[in-house]
Amino acid sequence: MAKFYLTTPIYYINAPPHLGHAYTNVVADAIARYRRQKGDDTFFLTGTDEHGAKNMRAAETAGKTPQEFVDAQAALFEKMNRQLSLSNDDFIRTSDQKRHWPGAQALWKKLEEAGDIYKSSYRGLYCVGHEAFVTEKDLVNGACEDHGKAPEVIEEENYFFKLSRYGPEIERIISSGELAIFPESRKNEILSFIREGVADVSFSRPAKDIPWGVPVPGDASQTMYVWCDALPNYITALGFGSSDSENFKRFWPADVHVIGKDILRFHALIWPGMLLSAKLPLPKALLVHGHILSGGKKMSKTLGNVIDPMALIGEYGGEALRSVLLGEIPTFDDGDLTLERFAIVYNANLANGLGNVTRRLSTMIQNYFGGKVEKPPADALKKTLLTRSVSALGFSRISGGEKMEYVPLSYFAEQVVFPEYQARMEKFEISRASELIFGLIKEIDGYIQDYEPFKLVKTDPGKTKAVLWNATFALAVAARMFEPFLPDTAVKVEDILGVAGKESFSWEVFEGKSHDLLFPRLR
Ligand code: MSP
Repeated sequence: MAKFYLTTPIYYINAPPHLGHAYTNVVADAIARYRRQKGDDTFFLTGTDEHGAKNMRAAETAGKTPQEFVDAQAALFEKMNRQLSLSNDDFIRTSDQKRHWPGAQALWKKLEEAGDIYKSSYRGLYCVGHEAFVTEKDLVNGACEDHGKAPEVIEEENYFFKLSRYGPEIERIISSGELAIFPESRKNEILSFIREGVADVSFSRPAKDIPWGVPVPGDASQTMYVWCDALPNYITALGFGSSDSENFKRFWPADVHVIGKDILRFHALIWPGMLLSAKLPLPKALLVHGHILSGGKKMSKTLGNVIDPMALIGEYGGEALRSVLLGEIPTFDDGDLTLERFAIVYNANLANGLGNVTRRLSTMIQNYFGGKVEKPPADALKKTLLTRSVSALGFSRISGGEKMEYVPLSYFAEQVVFPEYQARMEKFEISRASELIFGLIKEIDGYIQDYEPFKLVKTDPGKTKAVLWNATFALAVAARMFEPFLPDTAVKVEDILGVAGKESFSWEVFEGKSHDLLFPRLR
């Protein structure tokens, strides 16, 4: 059995979770669920990044101790994750002194043993929003563009990590694809950044200024830099540096780190550098997604276009939020979402599409065939071939060259759509996989409209049964495909069709159980 280890970034918790965090989480969850369905031994990690100046100051503003504050904030992330049906196997918090600190410090010691940590005095511009040093080049009118604030001038003694030493090796590893970066454009972006020259990075801050964090081993006057403490979460959660490192042996290296484009450099440069220095295996891939915009603009309180994930969950449910985000945001690009668009997609794909097709099929199976349809004989199947050009889904022919018009819908779903879906999921093309799901559901809807089983049943019950069996088979295939997107709905649909727990595509008989509307239509 192949193992598959995937992670999300760990989130800063200075503010409640926003839509971008929800997005990264559901992208990762869709991949995790797909892998489990495939039979991989999967481990899916998420968590929170609780140290650093940003969190510390947010705690001060809230009038709480840092620990009280992060406990309350981390709970908000866990709550959102439950409402999104996230199937994470673990949740790591960097303030966890038992689970995280020993591994983070053990890794530091490895870098030190490799001769890659040195002390130096430093003067630089620190952007608290980024939790990173920035340069004059990064500023617009003296302020950080993303955070709208002038960076702080910092002059202090720090420990540095000799990242420069690993630049050429990292370049080789990325360009050869040993560390794969999806999409290609992000790979090129980081390669040209590396080719401009890799500088060493400040890896600690004086504890008197930043007392909230992991102490540097052997020098408590310094606190580990928040990224140097955060990145190792991917291994501390597996038990690296603790007495129980079973999971570390079983799952490391990560098969994919899912990240947003804003933190590519940390994951494609600093993290590989740390691992190379510590002589640990490197992750196999980075999936770099874009950002969610609202009405073409970055979400911001001032613009009033911030979409709160919890409000959307309250209104539409976590399933709908997952599905709309995964389908609407092109996985590798920035994507736009407005509340208006959300409602349109919800109605089209979920209420009128999936919900309505499931209701129609199950009602007809009940009304015409007492709640059960068996697999029709081969000659009946031949009379219920696809009726429409399937170009809407991007297939006009099947691989053998036979025209799609001449195959049954069940065959089309299983032999054409499903393999293409798998191919897209393997390449992390989540939004393109979603297109296939809702395209197939549309296809089923069109098939019902064309055969008109509600009329046909009066003249040819045998053929009607074959039509319903075909359409239901295709819906069951769709349910297997949308399980990673709509996990709770998939369970419901499989139960309605009587295929819960049955091996994919082996279905001979379908049921059509009564059920509450899966997705009530919005007016
Ligand atoms: N704590 C660091 C990550 C450490 S990982 C070892 C951090 N946290 S963050 O909370 O600021 O952002 C984490 C991630 O949230 C981003 O990389 C991205 O995946 C996601 N998003 C934040 N804003 C986003 C959007 N507007 N749209 C989509 N995702 C975005 O960086």
